[in-house]
Amino acid sequence: MGLWARMLCSLLFLLQVLAEPAENSNFHLAGDYLLGGLFSLHANVKGTVHLNILQVPKCKEYDMKVLGYNLMQAMRFAVEEINAHSSLLPGVLLGYEIVDICYLSNNVQPVLYFLAQKDYSLPILKDYSHYVPHVVAVIGPDNSESTITVANFLSLFLLPQITYSAISDQLRDKQRFPAMLRTVPSGSHHIEAMVQLMIHFRWNWIVVLVSNDEYGRDNSQLLNQRLLSGGDICIAFQEVLPTPAPNQIMTPTEQAQLEAILRKLQQTTARVVIVFSPELALRNFFLTVLRWNLTNTVWIASESWSIDPVLHNLTELRHTGTFLGITIQRVPMPGFSEFRVRGTRDSPPPSSGTSQQTTCNQECDACLNITASFNNILTLSGERVVYSVYSAVYAVAHALHSLLGCNQTNCAKKVVYPWRLLQEIWKVNFTLLGNQIFFDEQGDVPVRLDIIQWRWDLSQNPFQSFASYHPMQRELKHIGNVSWHTPDNTIPVSMCSKNCRPGQMKRPVGLHPCCFECLDCMPGTFLNQSADEFDCQPCPSASWSHKNAISCFKRHLAFLEWQEVPTIIVVILAVLGFLSTLTILVIFWRHYQTPMVRSAGGPMCFLMLTPLLLVFGMVPVYVGPPTVFTCICRQAFFTLCFTICISCIAVRSFQIVYIFKMARRLPRAYGFWVRYHGPYVFVALMTAIKAAIIAGNMLTTTINPIGRTDPEDPNILILSCHPNYRNGLLFNTSMDLLLSMVGFSFAYMGKELPTNYNEAKFITLSMTFSFTSSISLCTFMSVHDGVLVTIMDLLVTVLNFLAISLGYFGPKCYMILFCPERNTPAYFNSMIQGYTMRKD
Ligand SMILES: *[C@@H]1O[C@H](CO)[C@@H](O)[C@H](O)[C@H]1NC(C)=O
Ligand SMILES: *[C@@H]1O[C@H](CO)[C@@H](O)[C@H](O)[C@H]1NC(C)=O
Ligand SMILES: *[C@@H]1O[C@H](CO)[C@@H](O)[C@H](O)[C@H]1NC(C)=O
Ligand SMILES: *[C@@H]1O[C@H](CO)[C@@H](O)[C@H](O)[C@H]1NC(C)=O
Ligand SMILES: *[C@@H]1O[C@H](CO)[C@@H](O)[C@H](O)[C@H]1NC(C)=O
Ligand SMILES: *[C@@H]1O[C@H](CO)[C@@H](O)[C@H](O)[C@H]1NC(C)=O
Ligand SMILES: *[C@@H]1O[C@H](CO)[C@@H](O)[C@H](O)[C@H]1NC(C)=O
Repeated sequence: MGLWARMLCSLLFLLQVLAEPAENSNFHLAGDYLLGGLFSLHANVKGTVHLNILQVPKCKEYDMKVLGYNLMQAMRFAVEEINAHSSLLPGVLLGYEIVDICYLSNNVQPVLYFLAQKDYSLPILKDYSHYVPHVVAVIGPDNSESTITVANFLSLFLLPQITYSAISDQLRDKQRFPAMLRTVPSGSHHIEAMVQLMIHFRWNWIVVLVSNDEYGRDNSQLLNQRLLSGGDICIAFQEVLPTPAPNQIMTPTEQAQLEAILRKLQQTTARVVIVFSPELALRNFFLTVLRWNLTNTVWIASESWSIDPVLHNLTELRHTGTFLGITIQRVPMPGFSEFRVRGTRDSPPPSSGTSQQTTCNQECDACLNITASFNNILTLSGERVVYSVYSAVYAVAHALHSLLGCNQTNCAKKVVYPWRLLQEIWKVNFTLLGNQIFFDEQGDVPVRLDIIQWRWDLSQNPFQSFASYHPMQRELKHIGNVSWHTPDNTIPVSMCSKNCRPGQMKRPVGLHPCCFECLDCMPGTFLNQSADEFDCQPCPSASWSHKNAISCFKRHLAFLEWQEVPTIIVVILAVLGFLSTLTILVIFWRHYQTPMVRSAGGPMCFLMLTPLLLVFGMVPVYVGPPTVFTCICRQAFFTLCFTICISCIAVRSFQIVYIFKMARRLPRAYGFWVRYHGPYVFVALMTAIKAAIIAGNMLTTTINPIGRTDPEDPNILILSCHPNYRNGLLFNTSMDLLLSMVGFSFAYMGKELPTNYNEAKFITLSMTFSFTSSISLCTFMSVHDGVLVTIMDLLVTVLNFLAISLGYFGPKCYMILFCPERNTPAYFNSMIQGYTMRKD
């Protein structure tokens, strides 16, 4: 029994339904080697209704597909051409068996028919390597869903299958479908072409409509994936088109769904609509679109309907907008237009007995007449997918050619095992009507894609190409003119938000990156588009920008300059101070031995005059851009000099009072004071304390010059030494205040001393001036900023020193020069004696 089973373990298939093919039908041609052909001559959309009855579906009950018949004719054309021109397969007759799969309904049964042997039996074997099925290769079917179903069967037998229009990316998986090849680029190329088209026309706000089947789902998924990876295109919304039942009448629910989609289409600002759907589902859709008077829309057709003459015949569609589509390149095939409708002459009208003589669905009574009625438009639109079918047949023929070892005149008519043929098909590389045909690693022929525009002008190509896409380079090329259905033929705009003007940042609105509002960049910030479109960046500190800037400019630097009037005035004062101090120095030097000089402090005068000279000489550090050095000078040197002067004056007052009032009472202390150079020690000590205070102050703040924005005019950057040395200034001043208090109290104590020795008035005046000026400077600093502060600072400094120079030394010089009679030891002695006598 087991042996019996192994020997005759063959299943008789389809015996009831498959009968001897009729001669001379369009659907079969006898030959040495048969090709299977699967085409959708009819179609319904859902396609699975037959599964609840045990009958092979009757395709002719569905709507006819003009393009399907056109493609079938292409296969016949190719086979007949190969047979007629003997150079490819000399002495070999190629035959075919073509079955209508009516889109999805009838795709299993023909496969069984092809796989079975000539006697319609399909044996159950352990090894099919020497099995010879009915056909050596299968061309088709057209759609991906059927192709996958068919490929699942054929792959088991390694029976070569070449599809001419199934674009699904799943078919690239050669582990799953080792025997599956195709003569079209895969879906991802179609999507890429679409995306590049949208990028080219700057459409970034689109609607996607998909059919409720694998085609719609696969392609919309591909599109979504592609958009995620870049391009800045956003989908306003995506909807599934209701697919009518096979009888093509919509249920109320479906009608309502469709109306809802159209309402959304009417309301959205997106003007570009991509439709992924088999063409059959679209007739109803576009009829509804027409009813809704939708206009100004750009429709982008997937390859499934981009060159469909039946939809194109809804000429009213031209008012709804512009139709663009992706399709296969156009390759002129001489003689095909005549061949397409030649069947009428050649084959006898099908007899009533046809259905019994052929397998199921090898008939299409209406095809020729309907195709003939579309012949004009089909001829005008040229050969596109037709060429894919044609090249698929030629690929098999070329593989047979090398498998059979053909030369010019002869071929070895061997038995052809499908898996051997498959190996040869992978290797083919030939030129066909000017195009190189070979299969890449994924089993695809990388032919060009065209972007076409629908036109309705008579006697013109209804699907005119205006750009092309090369799968190898992955880019859109030769982009020509499109006649837009808009006023002035302007390119339609489909953007969620218009691009912002330069210097405006985007603020996202909602979830889409394409939707945003534009906000002006504030002064002081700028937009670097290449870095961040969503944020204005602040300008670097030394620069500034106006509103809506895309770059910053260098700010105008503000500092005290030589040519300014305040500078000139202060410099004149300083020069005067310098000259007068120099004069005083010279006079004091010349009259060093006179009692006037000695009473004024003697050598200590020079200790005061030298810093004064230096101070007037150093005034230029206030002019020009501040540096670390000038800042140290401004904040340390001047105040240090001031302290030296004040302490000198204080110590001199002390000494006078001491000599007159206490020396007699405390002679030892006086000896001590004199022996250890008390005055100098005191001055040095005060200077050291002051230096320490200044150093501490500088360490806590900074001595680097600082740029600060002018609050009134941000274009200006004020350069100044640390503007917050106010506290330090107050601290310094209080130290000086203390010193002068000391000086003042001694001066006051000696107010009844001879006038030569009485400095109280001067010290009071000078100190009062010094303090009021310091306090007002601090107040001024807290209110004002910038160059004014520098001017004030300078002015106060110069005036202070002028006061010391002229106020202290001036009267003495006057006496020395103009009252020499009072500048004698005798006069001084008389004064002192007068004083002592008054006291006693
Ligand atoms: C479309 O236009 C026609 C005539 O202009 C009008 O009768 C019809 O109501 C319009 N349809 C819609 C949905 O607006
Ligand atoms: C096709 O058209 C021819 C003439 O135009 C007609 O005689 C024939 O009956 C038609 N065939 C079918 C199946 O309609
Ligand atoms: C196109 O449609 C019109 C009616 O809208 C119809 O008369 C004509 O036959 C159609 N053309 C073809 C080729 O079917
Ligand atoms: C072609 O091959 C056959 C044998 O396979 C041989 O007899 C014949 O001479 C060859 N013809 C040419 C033109 O090479
Ligand atoms: C196909 O043949 C052409 C020239 O005959 C050659 O340039 C090309 O590289 C071949 N392609 C492949 C994939 O072998
Ligand atoms: C596009 O249109 C412009 C002006 O209408 C014309 O000059 C140009 O030649 C056209 N380009 C193509 C490729 O047709
Ligand atoms: C803008 O940003 C880019 C990239 O980050 C950078 O190379 C460029 O220098 C920036 N331009 C300005 C003006 O900041």
